[in-house]
Amino acid sequence: MPTIARRRYAVVGAGARARMYVEALASTHADTGEVVAWCDPNPTRMSFHDQTLRRAGLPAPARYPPERFAELLDEARPDAVIVTSPDATHHHYAVAALRAGRDVVVEKPLTTTETGARAIADTASTSDGRLLVTFNYRYSPRNGELRRLIAGGAIGEVTSVHFEWVLDTVHGADYFRRWHRDKANSGGLLVHKASHHFDLVNWWLDDIPETVFALGSLRFYGAGNAARRGLGPRPERSTGWPGAAADPFALDLAADDTLRRLYLEAEPDDGYLRDRDVFAPGITIEDNLSVLVAYRSGATLTYSLNAHSPWEGYRVALNGTAGRLELDVVERGHVLPAGAAGMVGRPAVDPSVSPDHPESATPTNSRPAGAHLRLQHHWSLAQDLPIPDGDGPHGGGDSLLLNDIFHPTPAPDPLRHRAGLLDGLRSSGIGIAANHSLDTGQPVRLAESGIPLTAI
Ligand SMILES: NC(=O)c1ccc[n+]([C@@H]2O[C@H](COP(=O)([O-])OP(=O)(O)OC[C@H]3O[C@@H](n4cnc5c(N)ncnc54)[C@H](O)[C@@H]3O)[C@@H](O)[C@H]2O)c1
Repeated sequence: MPTIARRRYAVVGAGARARMYVEALASTHADTGEVVAWCDPNPTRMSFHDQTLRRAGLPAPARYPPERFAELLDEARPDAVIVTSPDATHHHYAVAALRAGRDVVVEKPLTTTETGARAIADTASTSDGRLLVTFNYRYSPRNGELRRLIAGGAIGEVTSVHFEWVLDTVHGADYFRRWHRDKANSGGLLVHKASHHFDLVNWWLDDIPETVFALGSLRFYGAGNAARRGLGPRPERSTGWPGAAADPFALDLAADDTLRRLYLEAEPDDGYLRDRDVFAPGITIEDNLSVLVAYRSGATLTYSLNAHSPWEGYRVALNGTAGRLELDVVERGHVLPAGAAGMVGRPAVDPSVSPDHPESATPTNSRPAGAHLRLQHHWSLAQDLPIPDGDGPHGGGDSLLLNDIFHPTPAPDPLRHRAGLLDGLRSSGIGIAANHSLDTGQPVRLAESGIPLTAI
C-alpha cells in the first residue's frame, strides 16, 4: 500500500490556541502531518508543546525566535505555517510564508490593520501558497444549518440581520487580562472577537460588506470604571493575591495545571502576565460595542457585543422576503459566586475556552444551555427546526475544521465552510473599519478604506 508523505508544519506562537493543532498532529492527524519547527520567543512554552509530541513518541521540533523566521523557512522547510501568535503579528508571518511559496493556516483575525490586509492581499496574488483562515464557528452544526437554510431559500432574499453576542464575566473578562487588552495587539474586540461573528454573517448571506458605522466604549472593566463604581483597592495581578479565593474576577494560574505550565512557569522568560487584574490600568479596548453594516445586496446588519453579561451565548434573527429565521444559543446560562451550587465563578479551568458544553450542574431556574432554531414563513405558524448536534469545543466545530486542514484530500464543501483570503479580509475589514468609525464618529465606506474585498 503506498504511503502518503507527511506534510511538514511550522507552528508560530506556541500558546494556548496552538494546543488544538499540536494535539491533532500528535494523535488524530499524525499520519498526515508533523510539526517540524516552532517559532516563539518563549522557550518554556515551546517545551510545553514538545512534551505533547514526546508523549506521542514524536521528536522535538527545531526552535526559532521570531527574528529568525526567515531561517526557519529555509532550514526547516515547512510545507505550511500555522499562525497562532498574537493577532497583530499575523500579517507579518502570513506575508513571509506566502512570499516563500508556503501555505498558511492562520487563526482569526487574519489581520488587525489596513496595512496588514493590503500586504497579505498583495503577496497572496503572486504566491503559489494557499491561505486558510480557521473560522471554527462556521463548522459548528447550528451555524452550518443556518447557512444551509438561507442558501436553500428558506426565507427568500435576506433583507436584514439582527445579531447580539454576549460574553459572560468568565470568558468576557479574559480579554481584559493580557495582550488583548491593548488595542495595538488585538485590534480590540471588534477585530479580535467580532471578526468571528462578522465572518458568520458574511458567510450566511454570501455577501460583501460595504459601509460600517460603530459606537462603543469601555463601561465595565478598567481602572476608571472600578473607581466610579467604588470598588476597593485591586491587585495588579490575581495569582498570589490573598483576596483571590473570594473574587469572581481572579484567575489563579497556580490552580490549573495547564495555566501554570504554559504561563506562570514561563514568566521568567519574557514577563508575560496572563492574570492581570481586569480593573488594572492600561486597557485600551472597549467592552460594549454596537455596529451597523450595509451589504452590497442591500441587506443590513445590526450587531452588538457585550463582554460582561451574566450568561453567555448569542441571538441572531434574519428577516427575509419570505419570512424569518431565529437562532438562540445559550453557551453558559449563569456565573454564580464562589461556593454557590452550580458555581462557575472564579475559574478553575482556562477561561479563554468557549463554554459550549458547561460541566457545572444546572440549578433550578437556570437558563439551560442549548440552541433553538425557529423558522416562520409569512402567514404561517412558527416551526422549531432540529439542529444537528456537534461534540466538543465550538459546538463541534474544531474537529471538523481539523479534518479540513489536515486531511490530504479535503471533503466536498458544498456550503463553503473552508474560509480563505477574501473571507479573512472581509471579516477583519469590518472590524478595522468599525475601529475607524469609533475614532471619527463617521461611517466608513470599505471601498475607500484600502482593504481589498473582492477578487485579488
Ligand atoms: N478560533 C478560536 O476560537 C481561537 C481561540 C483562541 C485563540 N485564537 C487565536 O489564536 C491566537 C493565539 O491566541 P492564544 O490564546 O493562544 O494566545 P497565547 O498568549 O496563549 O499564545 C500566544 C503565543 O505567541 C507567542 N508570541 C508572542 N509574540 C510573538 C511573536 N512576535 N511571534 C511569534 N510568537 C509570538 C507567545 O509567546 C505565546 O506563546 C490569536 O490570534 C487568537 O485570536 C483563536
